[in-house]
Amino acid sequence: MRTPDWAVTIQQHLDRQGRVMVLTGAGVSAESGIPTFRGPEGYWTVGSQVYHPQEMATMAMFQRRPDDVWQWYLYRAALCHRAKPNPGHHAIAGMDTVLKKRFTLITQNVDGLHLQAGNPVQRTYQIHGNLFQVRCVADCSSDLHPLPPALIGRDKDRPLSPAERDLLICPRCGERLRPHVLWFDEAYNEIYFRFRSSLAAAAATTLLLIVGTSGATNLPQQVAWTVMQNGGTIYDINPEPNPFSRLALRSPGGQFIQAQSGRFLPDLLTVMQDALKSSNKGG
Ligand code: OAD
Repeated sequence: MRTPDWAVTIQQHLDRQGRVMVLTGAGVSAESGIPTFRGPEGYWTVGSQVYHPQEMATMAMFQRRPDDVWQWYLYRAALCHRAKPNPGHHAIAGMDTVLKKRFTLITQNVDGLHLQAGNPVQRTYQIHGNLFQVRCVADCSSDLHPLPPALIGRDKDRPLSPAERDLLICPRCGERLRPHVLWFDEAYNEIYFRFRSSLAAAAATTLLLIVGTSGATNLPQQVAWTVMQNGGTIYDINPEPNPFSRLALRSPGGQFIQAQSGRFLPDLLTVMQDALKSSNKGG
């Protein structure tokens, strides 16, 4: 059987000691049962009002209705806690294992499934945060704390009890704790979201695999443009065309691979493993 073009390009990149980056979005976790961001499941009702995630995930809403925002995040944390990494996550973890320092993962997902699949935290930039971490809303320090386990798995519609509210108080200054996620009315930064590190890694990347994202946020767009401007190759892996598909096709040797990540990425990992074995044999 003829080797597909994408596999030949990957072999060539690895032969040339190229650096690989994977950039993921909600689509990678769809096969683990976590609704994507822009699907209808993202909506949330408070009283008689239905809110869109773009309204709930804001500092403005947290200041107005902290308990309601927390209830929404605790519901999402429970959902993600039940989910397990799927073959797409495992394949990406396998890429880190074979490529090591030549590999970086940038994820917009806050579900922690890449870390659970085995991607090491030092090469995994969680650029929108992590649902299972909290920090002080007043920024009295940049410490991240684990989400108290007692708050995971509670009923969706039950309001926070006083005891639960006490668990969400900063141990240093007594202010409220907030979810460690990037909100829509906030900006990327290095300390929490690895902004500069992401762009520096993109500048050194020769092959970028974009998986399961609709391309709606700013840092992923900058990452893709940086790779493009430096002459890197881009593959977009997604069942639906999106702005990154067009960019990929304009990059040298780039491809839009119309597929689900959990089906395609294990094949891609096998190609990488075989290519690395044969280049090691050749010395
Ligand atoms: P979206 O919900 O916008 O897009 C999900 C993408 O996944 C779509 O392009 C789908 O076609 C694709 N998809 C669905 N199933 C898939 C599968 N099995 N395999 C591969 N792809 C699949 O989610 P994101 O692009 O991740 O940010 O959204 C980006 C950011 O927008 C989120 O992180 C969030 C939001 O603003 C913040 O909260 C800061």
